[in-house]
Amino acid sequence: MTALQVVPGWPKQRGGVKHAGRIEMAGKRAVVTGAARGIGLATTKLLIEEGWTVAMIDRDRPALEEASRDIDRDGIGRAEPFFCDVSIADQVEEMVGGVLARFGGIDAVVNNAGVADFAPIERTGFEQWRTVMATNLDGVFLVSQAALPALRQSRGCIVNIASISGLRGSTLRIAYGTSKAAVIQLTRQQAAELGEYGIRANCVCPGPVRTKLAMAVHTQEIIDAYHDAIPLNRYGSEREIAEVIAFLCSGRASYVTGQVIAADGGFESTGVGLPALRRANAGGD
Ligand SMILES: NC(=O)c1ccc[n+]([C@@H]2O[C@H](COP(=O)([O-])OP(=O)(O)OC[C@H]3O[C@@H](n4cnc5c(N)ncnc54)[C@H](O)[C@@H]3O)[C@@H](O)[C@H]2O)c1
Repeated sequence: MTALQVVPGWPKQRGGVKHAGRIEMAGKRAVVTGAARGIGLATTKLLIEEGWTVAMIDRDRPALEEASRDIDRDGIGRAEPFFCDVSIADQVEEMVGGVLARFGGIDAVVNNAGVADFAPIERTGFEQWRTVMATNLDGVFLVSQAALPALRQSRGCIVNIASISGLRGSTLRIAYGTSKAAVIQLTRQQAAELGEYGIRANCVCPGPVRTKLAMAVHTQEIIDAYHDAIPLNRYGSEREIAEVIAFLCSGRASYVTGQVIAADGGFESTGVGLPALRRANAGGD
């Protein structure tokens, strides 16, 4: 583990970390939520490769410790773990304070932490609904707002991770899909209001990726249906999503704000008939 040590008894203690003083920064500084695994971890690794220093935020303490240890072991360096549940306002405030104490500023916030729970409307209890909203929507609002003074100072950027489930309706996603549609609109609100501070806000909508989150709710039938419905005919990888996120964080996207970009193998662009046409076309040139 790097200079931040885990404090036993987290989350009772401040930010869950002891701060060993500010570290010297060479490149830019990103906060990535849900960084212990999946798309958040891939984003962390790519940003580090591109010269960023990354505050890895997660509420899964063992997974976060392991992920940050692995990054240290790989010798890629420049990532520090911060334990925080993004749905809890006090923890978010403390986490952002802790990141600022260590990094001295924040240039990008990647709101990636998310949970999925698929159930029919009639069997979605209010508690289930609130659990999904608390992380997927409240978390994005809370982390962005807490980081706002720092982003104003750096004229930084926000990248929110929604989903194709926020772009198109589907079954079983009353809470998840609605939370992600709200994240898309929240991004537009942020872009509209924060542009005058030089802050950019964009949204990435991943298609299916074989992460723990997806595999918990994707049956074999759903996997087959996705393959059928996606022009590129496959799931995406964590790295392919991270590439879009890293681009939006970078100066290469300096005139891009308020955009919603699906990294989905073409899923969103298609309508009915793709599998049938694909079969009809099979073998032909
Ligand atoms: N995997 C997919 O197919 C897919 C598709 C579309 C969108 N997404 C979105 O991409 C994002 C990342 O998903 P993933 O597939 O990598 O998931 P994942 O489950 O592999 O990783 C999510 C991480 O977020 C953390 N997390 C969850 N709730 C948190 C909270 N309240 N506070 C702090 N950390 C929290 C988890 O501990 C975990 O480490 C999510 O927002 C998800 O909705 C994923």
